[in-house]
Amino acid sequence: MGKQGNYSFTGHIRPRQIRAGALRLRATFCLGGFSFLAFIVLTITGVLLLFYYQPGDRAFASLSEINSVLPYGGFLRSLHFWAGQLMVISVFLHMVRVVWSRAYRPLRELNWITGVVLFGLTVILDYSGYLLRGGQESGAAATVGQALFTSLPGGKALATVFFGQPSPLNGSTLNMFVWHVFILAGAVGFLQMFHFWRIRRGGGVRPL
Ligand code: HEM
Repeated sequence: MGKQGNYSFTGHIRPRQIRAGALRLRATFCLGGFSFLAFIVLTITGVLLLFYYQPGDRAFASLSEINSVLPYGGFLRSLHFWAGQLMVISVFLHMVRVVWSRAYRPLRELNWITGVVLFGLTVILDYSGYLLRGGQESGAAATVGQALFTSLPGGKALATVFFGQPSPLNGSTLNMFVWHVFILAGAVGFLQMFHFWRIRRGGGVRPL
């Protein structure tokens, strides 16, 4: 296969040749693919929720309206919520599979590190989504998160950056909304593309 077939855009999306064994179910259990599927579901349902969700003081009320007024609104929220929980579980299991098949070793170290960052970001993304509810349970989760942050060195400043300062300009969930929708989801989307590119550069999935 020529260089073009290996490294062109279409070559990455649908490589003509892959290693024998990489397609076996027990090579991957399709856990990376499942994580990406969850991310696609989250992106689609998240964009649909953006049409009705109101960050700030109306967060909780707007979510109740999505449940009660919007046709299939409750279903949309449930899909978004459960895809988030499943993504955290499947990314974790994918990481376990990578350890099990020792795919973190050379040539794949950079993709292992990218994966560790992706795992951390996925957990924080899930957490930040929970805070967007703006109800009492979100308040309790925010208090726990702030305490965790402030126990770190320099954590007070970090907590201010992440949770924001409550002010009349910044409704309780507005800060978290920006993190959730733009910064965290954007970073996970970008790093996933980098991850897929590195899989191809590392010679594809490592067969057991
Ligand atoms: C957003 C989350 C992630 C997505 C969507 C994702 C997706 C994928 C996909 C589709 C593959 C191809 C093989 C497979 O399906 O198992 C793969 C391989 C790989 N992933 Fe991930 N991944 C994610 C997170 C992680 C994490 C948390 C780690 C480890 C810390 C990791 C490390 C790797 C490595 C080293 C490979 C190459 C595996 C091999 O050569 O056998 N990934 N990833």
